[in-house]
Amino acid sequence: MSPLTTTRPNPVSLNRHLFIVDNYHLLKSMDSESIDLICTDPPFAKNDTFIGSLRPPLTEEEIQKELETLKRWGIGSAADAERLDVVWPTGETTAKFTDIWSWESDVHEQWMDDIRDNRPTVFKIIETSRKTHSEGTAAYLAYMAVRLIECHRVLKSSGSLYLHCDHTANSYLRMLLDGIFGEQNFRNEIIWRIGWVSGYKTQKRGWIRNHDTILYYIKSAAAAKQFNKEYLPYPTDYVRRDGKRPTGKGFPIEDTWNCHKGDVLDSIMIKSFSSEKTGYPTQKPVALAERIVNASSNPGDVVFDPFAGCAYIPVAAERLGRQWIACDISPRALTVLRRQFKKFEYAVDGETPEGVLASDNVSLARTQVTVRGPAELPIRTTMEDDIESIKPLPQRRYKTRASIFTRGEMLEFLLNLSGWRAWCCGFANWRENRDSTLSIERTIRNFELDHIDPKSKQGRHEIDNRAPLCPYHNSLKSDRRILLDDLRIEIEERGELVVPSIDDLVNLAWARDQAIEHLIGGRAKLRARTLSGLA
Ligand SMILES: C[S@@+](CC[C@H](N)C(=O)[O-])C[C@H]1O[C@@H](n2cnc3c(N)ncnc32)[C@H](O)[C@@H]1O
Ligand SMILES: [Zn+2]
Repeated sequence: MSPLTTTRPNPVSLNRHLFIVDNYHLLKSMDSESIDLICTDPPFAKNDTFIGSLRPPLTEEEIQKELETLKRWGIGSAADAERLDVVWPTGETTAKFTDIWSWESDVHEQWMDDIRDNRPTVFKIIETSRKTHSEGTAAYLAYMAVRLIECHRVLKSSGSLYLHCDHTANSYLRMLLDGIFGEQNFRNEIIWRIGWVSGYKTQKRGWIRNHDTILYYIKSAAAAKQFNKEYLPYPTDYVRRDGKRPTGKGFPIEDTWNCHKGDVLDSIMIKSFSSEKTGYPTQKPVALAERIVNASSNPGDVVFDPFAGCAYIPVAAERLGRQWIACDISPRALTVLRRQFKKFEYAVDGETPEGVLASDNVSLARTQVTVRGPAELPIRTTMEDDIESIKPLPQRRYKTRASIFTRGEMLEFLLNLSGWRAWCCGFANWRENRDSTLSIERTIRNFELDHIDPKSKQGRHEIDNRAPLCPYHNSLKSDRRILLDDLRIEIEERGELVVPSIDDLVNLAWARDQAIEHLIGGRAKLRARTLSGLA
């Protein structure tokens, strides 16, 4: 018997797509292992609102276009926008975003349920941050955690993530990413010197703050090999210690950027006349994004920016011949991206381009940028057991429950009951031995933890309501809220039972009793962990 195959191709190419929606929804609907590089500049938890005036000023026509686009997506009012998790353009002509966080308005109860169930380490990091920092920072981290968990899922195993942040939350984000990517997959903490500081800032008593941090993680050890090393050219007057001219490619770039002679990467925010300037309050230089895209992707690769803002990352990706996908919650990002891509003579959202400004790297083909709204998300073809938390989202409110096992502990315990076979069809992890015989490998890899009674029918998260399924049958369920017993009947009808009678495999009622005994009795080697109440 050979293992069932579970890999399926992503049928839709999302190249040159901008999604105007909360990136949580987009991420949830993206395929696993479909992205080569995530490079993004999310909110920093500054506890402030950022406002910038677009350059040139926003026109009446552009505002109308934003409203028309929203209308096309069935969003005609602020209430519609709120319901669909899009920012409503309130008639302001600025680029504005709020970087203030609270449990009530930014965190769904369901998210914390999922994190606590599936990512207990991440849960603890969030908990810790409310003690060492603030409620606001904890809420921010919860908001970021659900998105970064999805970022990790959608990355290919050869993929990398670059997360731009600053001193406000960098150490917390680093812990969060250690919890999600694994500390062994941390590569660098890049220091980006912002550049010249205003006279006012230099008045400060103490060290003048002048850097942001970019955290660089890879999904797996394999991704480290993908790195394209970059060099700064030797200065024309540079000689080696022996007096000879250097022969190498230049100085290899270190993890301190814009800090050395010859490495000019100043923030465009401080260069008042930069032609790059869009007026977006958080814009960074295209050259900064290009350095990252060059190093950690190759031509044709897919670059994704879930917090795209004024689109300098998509611009860098396009210039370097990568595919890109972008997302922003605000339709103002659409206007700015449209302006940016018009420079390349691209047709954005069906428009005819005008005002050509050719670039060396980009063909002048009238290439189409597609804009999509909340109801036009891709259809995910790889399904794991988190499908039930996609939609509809419950009330935004947060509370907690007590005792749980970790996901790994539950899988291990339940698989032991069935001799390391999935409870759907009897699938097992077969391994070929040296003598060509097969034996079952006892690893939780390739199993997914599902609910016996679906969560939507008040099924419990606890171990007595959980079952290990094979990914193939778990994905078969798609988003149907189906009971395990019914799924098994379906599998039998499809002739896909690897073990003819599931009841031979595991007696569900008995297994539940065992699980409950473990949960209550606490005799097992498995730990039932109690997390202190938060509410
Ligand atoms: C710190 S700014 C950085 C943007 C970008 N680096 C720039 O300025 O070009 C964060 C951006 O993320 C967007 N944003 C915030 N929360 C979001 C979410 N949940 N989904 C998508 N975009 C979001 C904001 O509208 C804002 O444009
Ligand atoms: Zn199965």
